[in-house]
Order: sequence, then structure tokens, then C-alpha cells
Amino acid sequence: MQSNETAGRDLLSRMLLVTDEDGQFMSEMEISNNIIGLLVASYETTSTAVTFVLKHLAELPRIYNEVYREMMAIAKTKGPNDLLSWEDIEKMKYSWNVARESLRVTPPAQEAFRESVTDFTYAGFTIPKGWKTFWTVHTTHKNPKYFPDPEKFDPSRFEGSGPAPYTFVPFGGGPRMCPAKEYARLEVLAFMYNVVRSFKLEKLIPDEKTVIHSSPVPVKGLPVCLQPHGN
Ligand code: HEM
Repeated sequence: MQSNETAGRDLLSRMLLVTDEDGQFMSEMEISNNIIGLLVASYETTSTAVTFVLKHLAELPRIYNEVYREMMAIAKTKGPNDLLSWEDIEKMKYSWNVARESLRVTPPAQEAFRESVTDFTYAGFTIPKGWKTFWTVHTTHKNPKYFPDPEKFDPSRFEGSGPAPYTFVPFGGGPRMCPAKEYARLEVLAFMYNVVRSFKLEKLIPDEKTVIHSSPVPVKGLPVCLQPHGN
């Protein structure tokens, strides 16, 4: 149930109430397109991100142990019913490097579409208005020039100043970059904290393949055995 304080503050209510500079409301089609767009942009990306973080944690015990150590150091400072705070998230530096390395190796969104709104010339090429193209992470994420030994899962790539600008682009880049990048960081780290603190992970299909169905997906759905710590 909504309290008076939260009533009308959800996204759908806002879209129903907002008007443009001419006082026009959004059409039903615009609102449904926006809601569907947001569901697609937020749900599949995040679930793919946490799936592959889990996969890497289950496959790489040394990295799992480091994440466990970092998460337990935070857990020890908190009471049993305390929620994670922003300060806690800021302390999860190694864990975020692991999540970023997972996003580099297996980016949930592999490409995004663009359409030029005007004629323009770039680097000697003339791009006409209406030209449709797409950018992709594949040109840099696995390029040994930017990520030496690119197939190696190595969270230390993100230490210090990290990768060169615009080489690590799981959230895109520029004005249309994912607006929920920081929110996604919270989601992924809160997920890692809760899983790793409670369970050890063991993949049930050690050599399970990954396929791309618009996003990467483990073919059998990544069955994992969760073993509570201390058992
Ligand atoms: C790990 C999770 C996520 C990843 C990897 C991701 C990745 C991306 C990428 C690559 C783009 C396209 C950027 C471009 O065109 O340059 C994008 C756009 C977008 N994302 Fe995310 N995203 C994630 C989570 C989310 C979440 C949780 C939401 C909403 C709550 C969200 C909302 C959006 C929206 C609305 C856009 C379109 C922005 C625009 O066109 O101006 N994303 N995202």
C-alpha cells in the first residue's frame, strides 16, 4: 500500500502526470514504450551481470576467497539486521573490480543502435542524416592492446587508474551512456554481498557453454550448488 508520502512518485504515475512545453500529456503508446524499454534495459542486463559474476566466483576459488574476505570484513562491522549503507558499498573495491572484470569478459549488452540526426563528417567519412549503425564492446574488451592477455580473468586490471578511457564500455559511453550505471553497481554488489557471505558456490556443469541470445546466457541456466559456510 502506498503512503501519502510515496503516492504519485513512482515512474508510471509521473509519466501519466507530466506534460510537455505545450501542456500535452504523453500518449498511452509513449508510456508503454517507455515502461517496456526500461524493463528490458534494466532486467536482462542486471540478471546477466549477476549470473556471470556468480559463474566466475564459482570457477575461481582464489578470487572468491578475496571477495569473501572483503565482504566479511564489512559484515563484521554491522548488526544482524543492519542494511548495507553507501559507505559499505564504497568499501567493496576488490569486489567491484571482480564485477567489472566479469562485465569486461562477458558484457550483458553487446551493442547499441545509433541513428545520425544530421549529415556530418568525421575522420574524412561523410555520414548522412538517417544513417543507422551500432557500436559494440567487441572492438576493445578483448583487444590485447588495451587488455593484455584478454582471455585471462584478472580483476587487478581495474586497480590504479584502470583501463584507458572508452576501452571498458559495458555501460556504453557519451551522452547516451546507461543512466543507471551506479544503480546497477549497487544491485550487483548487494547481490554479491548476500550470496558470498552465506554460501560457497560449486558449478554443477563444470564445462557449461555460453551462448548469445541477444545477451550471453549459460546454455543450461548455470546450475550451482550453494553450500552454507561452516557445513
Ligand atoms: C549491469 C547492468 C546494466 C548494464 C550492463 C547496462 C548497459 C547499458 C548499455 C550498454 C546501454 C546503452 C548505452 C549506449 O547506447 O551508449 C544502456 C542504456 C540504458 N540503460 Fe542500462 N545497463 C544496466 C542496468 C540498467 C538498469 C538497472 C536500468 C534501469 C533501472 C537501466 C536503464 C537504461 C536505460 C533507460 C538506457 C537508455 C539510455 C538512453 O538511451 O539514453 N540500465 N544500458
